[in-house]
Amino acid sequence: MTSTQSQIEVSYDVSNEFFRLWLDEKMHYTCAVFDAENDTLEKAQENKSRILYDLAGMTKDKTILDIGCGWGANLEYIAKRGAKAAHGVTLSPLQTEEIHARKLPNVKVWCKDYKDFTTDEPYDALVSIEMVDHVVSPAQAAKGLAVDLYRDYFNKCATLAKPGAQFAFQSILRNRVPRTRKDLEDLRFTADIIFPGGLNARIEELIMALNPNWELQELYMRREDYSKTTAEWLRRLKLNEAKIRETWGNEIFDDYDRYLSTCVRAFDNHWSGDVQMKLRRIG
Ligand SMILES: C[S@@+](CC[C@H](N)C(=O)[O-])C[C@H]1O[C@@H](n2cnc3c(N)ncnc32)[C@H](O)[C@@H]1O
Repeated sequence: MTSTQSQIEVSYDVSNEFFRLWLDEKMHYTCAVFDAENDTLEKAQENKSRILYDLAGMTKDKTILDIGCGWGANLEYIAKRGAKAAHGVTLSPLQTEEIHARKLPNVKVWCKDYKDFTTDEPYDALVSIEMVDHVVSPAQAAKGLAVDLYRDYFNKCATLAKPGAQFAFQSILRNRVPRTRKDLEDLRFTADIIFPGGLNARIEELIMALNPNWELQELYMRREDYSKTTAEWLRRLKLNEAKIRETWGNEIFDDYDRYLSTCVRAFDNHWSGDVQMKLRRIG
């Protein structure tokens, strides 16, 4: 089972205006790529979408599905750069509303579980940015089910793509375990309170789960980029502290402050990482 609809609403439906205050202007909620030292968050998020568009082998005459499409930032990039159709699925009602409000050309979005999404016309390309972190719960991983559930995810994705299709895939990773009780408690808090039902994958689990449908063609590690991304989110959150406390309450500000501070330490200390993969549908 993936995170349930109500767990997803805890993570993404505080309020669109809340996330707009501290994400980049398009509202990417995933690791950006800082090509140059002085790239802004906005530029780095566009770099990420450009890299994924290319890893997906996209061109203007192709169709693409974005699995776990957030507030539509990556769909917006695809629509601007060119696609015959750019479709998305998310489990969040507020994200779906935001994408409808953007009125993007050739873009459609469905608020539904990717497992229930079917199509008569498989896509030329797929992209999925840090959605897989919702596919396995901590309880399922403890029972040894992780690789089987990641394989179910990759197999489902394969049913949505044409043979030979490219899949631009991005995931947060679980690497090393911190040593102190406080660090362990902070990571536990992030998982339980901010992303209930979610768990970051280990890279070896993802790679094992690609068989039998996907060939791994390229792989890029983005841990340092995620440290910079989360540090910038934290900086912007703090800039808006007074407004957030006044509008959404002290608990929301304190929880997001603790979560983002933990993320910066997690990426700096190798507890967590991030990966982008270019995959090709076998068949
Ligand atoms: C961390 S956000 C990333 C959003 C977006 N890809 C981005 O780059 O900003 C994870 C996304 O996965 C979606 N998601 C989680 N579980 C899902 C499921 N079972 N089916 C469809 N979408 C799901 C969430 O609604 C959310 O939009």
